[in-house]
Amino acid sequence: MHAGVQSFMRCLITAGPTREHLDPVRFLSNGSSGRMGYALAAAAARRGWQVDLVSGPVALPAPESVATHRVISAAEMFRACEPLFARCDLFIAVAAVADYRPKFTAREKLEKSGGDRRLELAPTVDILKTLAARKRPEQTVVGFAAETHDLEAHAQRKLEEKNLDWIVANDVSRPGLGMDAENNRVLLLARNGVQFIFGPAPKADVAEFILDHVIAAPRR
Ligand code: CTP
Repeated sequence: MHAGVQSFMRCLITAGPTREHLDPVRFLSNGSSGRMGYALAAAAARRGWQVDLVSGPVALPAPESVATHRVISAAEMFRACEPLFARCDLFIAVAAVADYRPKFTAREKLEKSGGDRRLELAPTVDILKTLAARKRPEQTVVGFAAETHDLEAHAQRKLEEKNLDWIVANDVSRPGLGMDAENNRVLLLARNGVQFIFGPAPKADVAEFILDHVIAAPRR
């Protein structure tokens, strides 16, 4: 299926959490396991596509036949993605990027001070939004939306605000599904209003479903 298109596909995928360090041993992060992004990278590589996977810190091995670039922070993830985005056909942003970082990172381990402590935060770069703003007409950009309520409305807003072709919305309020889970149930929304639902299913099957749709169906 799609043999002619697939052999020329270059795919960029972000995965996992980022860590925003307060000091050398402490950081802000989240519970993303990276499994959904790694499943997508493996599925894309099995199709013969050329895959770059930019991954935050996770416990997973690099998928076979995938160029895996390991990063720590949102800023590093952005720097790694920028040149790869310029030459990809398909960008899928799965990473649970931290939205904020500590305004200051201490060079040495912070000592306890006894009383209350305030933490000043600064926004991180929105990797997906920044790169999707540079999208060329032949490129396809797919985002993810992890939501605990009003799934469709929030996903639809992100689809428009971030200039995406597709968004994969998953409900992370249900235990055992979505973030840090084996299975996922997704709502796939296209810019042109088409919608699909899939799952609950193992993330490998969800990955195949996503790739089939973002490549096959008309977007606009
Ligand atoms: N994303 C990104 N860079 C960020 C934040 C998010 O690339 N700094 C990407 C994620 O990889 C995902 C999409 O944007 O594909 C949506 O992320 P999400 O955290 O759900 O949305 P936000 O825009 O951060 O909005 P909010 O946290 O308010 O829901």
